[in-house]
Amino acid sequence: MSAAPLPAPAGARRISLAPEETAAFGAALAPALAPGDVIALEGPLGAGKTRFVTGLARGVGAAERVRSPSFTLINEYRGRLALLHADLYRVEAGEVPALGLGELGEDAVLAVEWGEKLPERLAAGALRLRFEIVSDRERAIIASADAGRGLALFAAWRAIGEGA
Ligand SMILES: Nc1ncnc2c1ncn2[C@@H]1O[C@H](COP(=O)(O)OP(=O)(O)O)[C@@H](O)[C@H]1O
Ligand SMILES: [Mg+2]
Repeated sequence: MSAAPLPAPAGARRISLAPEETAAFGAALAPALAPGDVIALEGPLGAGKTRFVTGLARGVGAAERVRSPSFTLINEYRGRLALLHADLYRVEAGEVPALGLGELGEDAVLAVEWGEKLPERLAAGALRLRFEIVSDRERAIIASADAGRGLALFAAWRAIGEGA
């Protein structure tokens, strides 16, 4: 008997109908974040990864404006904790380990666009958020995690909006 793929658990998949709604998901996740956490943001250009980080930064109380780090590679925002915002779009997967994201992220939250390129060591305990373009204004954001803090953040993601 072949096993059917398991359906995603309830609340893993969220729909956003506007840029601000995508940011609001980030802001809603922010209270659950702790230093050392890794969020791998996956999905194509224009899917809303940077918008989501705008909300994360707001949610941790950072005053800096969020800009895409596709040229700078890493931006830092400081609020109740430090948020490192990386974008690996222009980086070959093989070059990512040399960036030292693991060391930089020890005392910060690491939010990484093009998180598909993260080395396994960092990806293993990450919350993965896959962004999909459904239509002009509609985005699907699908969360998953395998281990460690990723699972705690996954639970927090699923709880967003509950009882609100
Ligand atoms: N529901 C939505 N969520 C996020 N962005 C959206 C949404 N609908 C339209 N957009 C547009 O899609 C683009 C997303 O850009 P951005 O966050 O920079 O994507 P990425 O970082 O994934 O390349 C923006 O131009 C934004 O206005
Ligand atoms: Mg981006």
